[in-house]
Amino acid sequence: MLIEAQDISVAIGGRPVLDGESVRCKPGIMKALVGASGSGKTTLLHCLGLLLPVDKGSILIDGNDVTRYSTSARRRFWRDHTAFVLQDYGIMVEESVAFNVTMQASVIGRRVSGNKKRLNQSLEQTGLKGRENELAGHLSGGEKQRLALSRAIYKDANILFVDEPTASLDATNRRMVIELLADFAVRGRTVIVSTHDSEMIDACGAIHQVGSEARHIN
Ligand SMILES: Nc1ncnc2c1ncn2[C@@H]1O[C@H](COP(=O)(O)OP(=O)(O)OP(=O)(O)O)[C@@H](O)[C@H]1O
Ligand SMILES: [Mg+2]
Repeated sequence: MLIEAQDISVAIGGRPVLDGESVRCKPGIMKALVGASGSGKTTLLHCLGLLLPVDKGSILIDGNDVTRYSTSARRRFWRDHTAFVLQDYGIMVEESVAFNVTMQASVIGRRVSGNKKRLNQSLEQTGLKGRENELAGHLSGGEKQRLALSRAIYKDANILFVDEPTASLDATNRRMVIELLADFAVRGRTVIVSTHDSEMIDACGAIHQVGSEARHIN
């Protein structure tokens, strides 16, 4: 799916964070959102993922203006199409690793439903094999992000929104995460990554400088 921001502006607490930002994120190409700390990468990623409303401008999905989507329409979009890999976000810390991947469970019986084979494959791919019965809250920051990535793999989402996925990883896990994300793009998914990591940026097919003077679409 093609996700676009057209000339969007966002102010937080009265301070402009994004000012006339435009970006096109195409399927099949991993897009890096780059810029200095505080430049608004995370804010832009959240606007593109419909997590944060914009004050001005538009968000488009496959050419349709979704800026004024209702809460239920946004929920449907998230449920049907997206996966978010955000730091310290979206992991249910009181639940097991397995539940966090499949999002299907009988909480009372502590039994996780869903596809066991796919669950195991998605955990194996992020180096979390054998950890399915652990409490997600006991994972480290980097492990939690890999858990969110397992969820994205399990769901095989159309669109991935990823914030600093390699920030807290060692070299081996960093390479693994970069390859997994690149693979999503190769398979025609839309992958949008906020990052400082030069190795991650090198793996991206397109780069958008957040807050740059040039307000062109790239
Ligand atoms: N919830 C919030 N409340 C107040 N200010 C915020 C909030 N979210 C973001 N900001 C401000 O918006 C600006 C951009 O923040 P953002 O998190 O988008 O930057 P970033 O480019 O992702 O930075 P980093 O590389 O450090 O992650 C910052 O100055 C930040 O202080
Ligand atoms: Mg950020």
